[in-house]
Amino acid sequence: MSLPSLPSFSIRGRRLLPIVQGGMGVGVSAHRLAGAVARTGAMGTIASIDLRHHHADLSETAAPSRDRDELNRRNLIALDREVRAALALAGGNGLVAVNVMKAVEAHPAYVRQACASGAQAIVMGAGLPLDLPELADGHPDVALIPILSDARGVAVVLKKWARKGRLPDAIVIEHPRYAGGHLGAPNPADLGNAKFDFAEVIPAVSKAFAEMGIAPGQIPLIVGGGINSHEKLFAALAMGASAVQVGTPFAVTAEGDAHPNFKRVLLDAKPEDIVTFMSVAGLPARAVKTPWLANYLKREAKLQGCAKADPGRCAIGLHCLAQCGLRDGLEKAGQFCIDAQLVAALKGDVAKGLFFRGSESLPFGREMRTVRELIEHLLTGVRPEHAAPELEASAA
Ligand SMILES: Cc1cc2nc3c(=O)[nH]c(=O)nc-3n(C[C@H](O)[C@H](O)[C@H](O)COP(=O)(O)O)c2cc1C
Repeated sequence: MSLPSLPSFSIRGRRLLPIVQGGMGVGVSAHRLAGAVARTGAMGTIASIDLRHHHADLSETAAPSRDRDELNRRNLIALDREVRAALALAGGNGLVAVNVMKAVEAHPAYVRQACASGAQAIVMGAGLPLDLPELADGHPDVALIPILSDARGVAVVLKKWARKGRLPDAIVIEHPRYAGGHLGAPNPADLGNAKFDFAEVIPAVSKAFAEMGIAPGQIPLIVGGGINSHEKLFAALAMGASAVQVGTPFAVTAEGDAHPNFKRVLLDAKPEDIVTFMSVAGLPARAVKTPWLANYLKREAKLQGCAKADPGRCAIGLHCLAQCGLRDGLEKAGQFCIDAQLVAALKGDVAKGLFFRGSESLPFGREMRTVRELIEHLLTGVRPEHAAPELEASAA
């Protein structure tokens, strides 16, 4: 996208549009979405978790397995394919990043594979990414980007990384009051705490930078959660952010990698349908109250009362999380298999799936548009005129 008068920022010498597409698992942001975003000159992000579901030859239907090592092996093959395909789609434009959740047991292998496959950045959240510099060792050109939600977390990461001789190449600040998926607050009651407001976090982080001798602008801040308009994008830039991270609006684009039913659930959700609850990862999460979630929430207290540490409760056998409320019997955490529910959503099973979504309305209402239309709309404020493609077209 050639928009010379528009603001831009740089990561590792690459000039980028000030829009970052957030990583969305399971499989919601794979090569098609991340590659299309990068092609415009922005940063696209593949979510690394459990990508085998996008590859028929690696999925359970091709060869059933409950062996953790075998499932991880297939996921790494899938990640390699996805990174290479996204880079090919990007055609040298923008930046292709891989999102890795620290809470995932196999996160070291995902980071190493992403680097080996040519990912240009690793973005890590869902836990403090203190080990990221070592994991990416040997790949000095790969940008390292932590996701955090408050200034205290940023200061901890900066100090630990500085001792290892590394600083982040950018930092994503995600607001738990608005974002979709897992949220960076210890429990649902904290989500609205003012310490997460960008107007609080940006100056506090700038102060932490100054105390460590980091020049203003040296580490770009990317703020995300609820950015659904041109006005919000430019308000964030005026506050001192270098870019915004956008999730839900990209998940519902034509290029989004999930099934059309997934997009329809997110597009059609009304404010009262969007809820927060405790995930098995021990973090609050935000999703649409679809039939499975409504039913689970009715039974949540009872299930938490029956929490019991039992490896057999990992029915899939992937043991995806380092700490899982269901498998490890953590009664304050969720009591369901997050992998099974998210994969059902990816495949468009509206009855069984768990559909992560941010809290805010979508830029084009209930209409599905393309990545390019979304990015142009956010950058210019102009609403594209032509008709949206048919929802079904995205399945092609
Ligand atoms: C469907 C969905 C899945 C998500 N999965 C992940 C994930 O795997 N890792 C992650 O760091 N963030 C994840 N997120 C958060 C997004 O990357 C993004 O930061 C957030 O949704 C921004 O808020 P917005 O949706 O209001 O734009 C997810 C969000 C959604 C909507």
